[in-house]
This record gives sequence, structure tokens and C-alpha cells, in this order.
Amino acid sequence: MAHQWRGVIREYFDRLPFSESDAIVTLGEGGTPLIEAPALAKLLDVGSVHLKFEGMNPTGSFKDRGMTTAVSKAKSSGAKAVIAASTGNTSASAAAYAVKGGMQSVVLVPAGKISWGKLSQAVAHKAQILQVKGNFDDCLRLARELSENYPVFLVNSVNPDRLQGQKTAAFEIFDALGYAPDLHAMPLGNAGNISAYHLGYREDLDAGRISVLPKLWGIQAAGSAPFIQGSPVKKPETIATAIRIGNPASWDLAQAAKADTDGSFGAVTDKEILWMHRFLSQECGVFVEPSSATGAAGLYKAAKLGTLPKVNSIVVTVTGHGLKDPDWALKDEAGRSIKPKKVAAVADSVAGILGLERNK
Ligand code: F0G
Repeated sequence: MAHQWRGVIREYFDRLPFSESDAIVTLGEGGTPLIEAPALAKLLDVGSVHLKFEGMNPTGSFKDRGMTTAVSKAKSSGAKAVIAASTGNTSASAAAYAVKGGMQSVVLVPAGKISWGKLSQAVAHKAQILQVKGNFDDCLRLARELSENYPVFLVNSVNPDRLQGQKTAAFEIFDALGYAPDLHAMPLGNAGNISAYHLGYREDLDAGRISVLPKLWGIQAAGSAPFIQGSPVKKPETIATAIRIGNPASWDLAQAAKADTDGSFGAVTDKEILWMHRFLSQECGVFVEPSSATGAAGLYKAAKLGTLPKVNSIVVTVTGHGLKDPDWALKDEAGRSIKPKKVAAVADSVAGILGLERNK
């Protein structure tokens, strides 16, 4: 009989805090590909690297895993509206799941600082979108305040239901490989994702499925790196708008993830992010948004500096799809826009331009 992936709540029902009487709002999230990337393994000089391609979720980012759980809980509690602060992906996901659950969504985004791909999703899913004069940290403060005092249900990752859903990515990696990697790297913004992977791998460890926790590496953009600075950054700046966050909400959980797994935090420049963004597209066949290249960029930087620990297997989560923020792919390394040549519809002249010689 044909089998269709049923979304993370049904696939991992016994490991999530859900009962049969709960509403389940799903778009079939999870079950994303774990793609072997030999070119990246060679670059890093390690045995194997796999990319967990979270851009393959229904709204194009890892946020859907936690949104199915948070919006389902909101629905079960009788909520009519959900609210989220976002650098773009959370708003796209919240808007889509709210529609699926028959609820209204309100999203607060930093004015002028989210990619148009993500904004288009929130518009398409008829979210009430407000551009806040401020950054993500201001948006989150507002969303929290509104949810405390008004009938709107907060679905940011400070809502523990979000982390419950997101932890399923760790389960899937073990299910796909049959082991946990030695090291697992990802971009680090508001710190929900690294906290969720920690939760998932911890549960795998406690259940005896794995015997050692992967070292969790969270990589930030250099202009927006509170975990490297050791305190909140007042004016975060980076082209990686998804992780342009100065005051991460899950600060303590991320510190615990690092300490418990012998992990590490790192930071890379925008230039290093864009270099890896191009490498993933051109050498691995995986098109991600620039922010999503940050984890791999951090590993490459460590490899060059000689600070990458001697490990055999690495997993890198690439968090969002390239189509979310495609402008960067249309620029070359010097920042000039790339425009494909226009040609007449004549085979011989096209062959000439391509430098092809006619078959003998
Ligand atoms: N990668 C992408 C593509 C993201 O959108 C985010 C966060 C992260 C990485 C960082 O994950 O916050 O759990 O550490 N985006 C949030 C949003 C903040 O609003 O979409 P994190």
C-alpha cells in the first residue's frame, strides 16, 4: 500500500506531548532529505558530511516542524489567532499553519529587513503583517507583551511546544543514518533550533538509541554574534537577515546545549557566508538561503584555522530554501548582477556561443 509521510506529530506521536484528543494541524512537514555531500567532506577533510535539507519542508524552512506542534496546541486550546515575531521564516510558517488550522495570524517583522520571498508567503497566507520600526528583538518583545495581555497565542520558539516539534529533526537523522554524527553544525539566531536538537539527541541518548551526544556547533553572523560577544548585540547587522538577532531568547538553553555536548559557538563574516552559499549550490547541488549556509561556513573556517576537532561524521542543517531569498544567487563574487546572455533562436549561432563543435 502506498505510504505517505504523515507529518512529525503522527510520525513521532509517542515521543511528543500529544494525546488522541488533541487537534493536529499539519502540512506534512518533516521527513526531509539527508543528502550526502562528498564535496564538503573533501573541503573539510573529514570522513562524511550530510546536509539535512530543511528547505524541503512545506513552507521552505525548518520552522514547520515546530509550527505544527505550536499551532496544534493553540487550536486545541481554542485559540482564534496566533502571533509571531519573525525575521521571515517563522512568519511564513505561522501564516500557513494558521490557515490550515482555521485561525487568524498576526506577524511582526522588522521593517525593510525580511526577504521578499518570505514576505510573499505571509501575504499569500493572509497574515495580518505589521512592519515594526525596530529589529527582531523589538518584534519579539512586542509579540510577548501582546500575547500576555490580549487573546493572541504566541508561536515563537519561546513557546516550548515549538522545540518539541523541532526536536524531531534529530530523530530523523538517527533514523536515516543508524547512528548520530560526531558533530552537528547549524546557523544560530534566536537559538531555538540548537536547543531543540539538543533536546532530541538527549532523548535519543536517554532511550539508549545513541551512546554519545553529537558536538553541537552553532554559528552566527559576525555582525550579529551575541554568543561570541558574551552579551546581547544592540544593533545586529548582516546580509543573513534570518539570523539578524542581537538578543537570542533561548540563551540559557543554547549555553546548555554547548556545555552538555562539548560543542562550540562560532562566527563568520557575510563574505564567508556568501562563499559557502555559492559552494553549496555549485558543488553540492543544494540551493539554500544565505543564512542557511552559515553552519557550513563556520566549519570551513574552523578547518582552515585547524580548530575543527578530529571527527569522522558531520551533519550540517541547512535551514531554509534558496528560493526564499534568491537575490544573492543572481550576483557574482564581486557583487555584480548576473544576466544570462540573450540569443537569437538559431541552433548554429547558439552552438557557436557555447563553443560547441558540430558532431562528426
Ligand atoms: N536559519 C534560518 C533560515 C532561520 O530563519 C533562522 C531563524 C535560523 C536559521 C536560526 O534559528 O533562531 O532557532 O537559532 N529564523 C527566525 C524567524 C528567527 O523568525 O524566522 P534559531
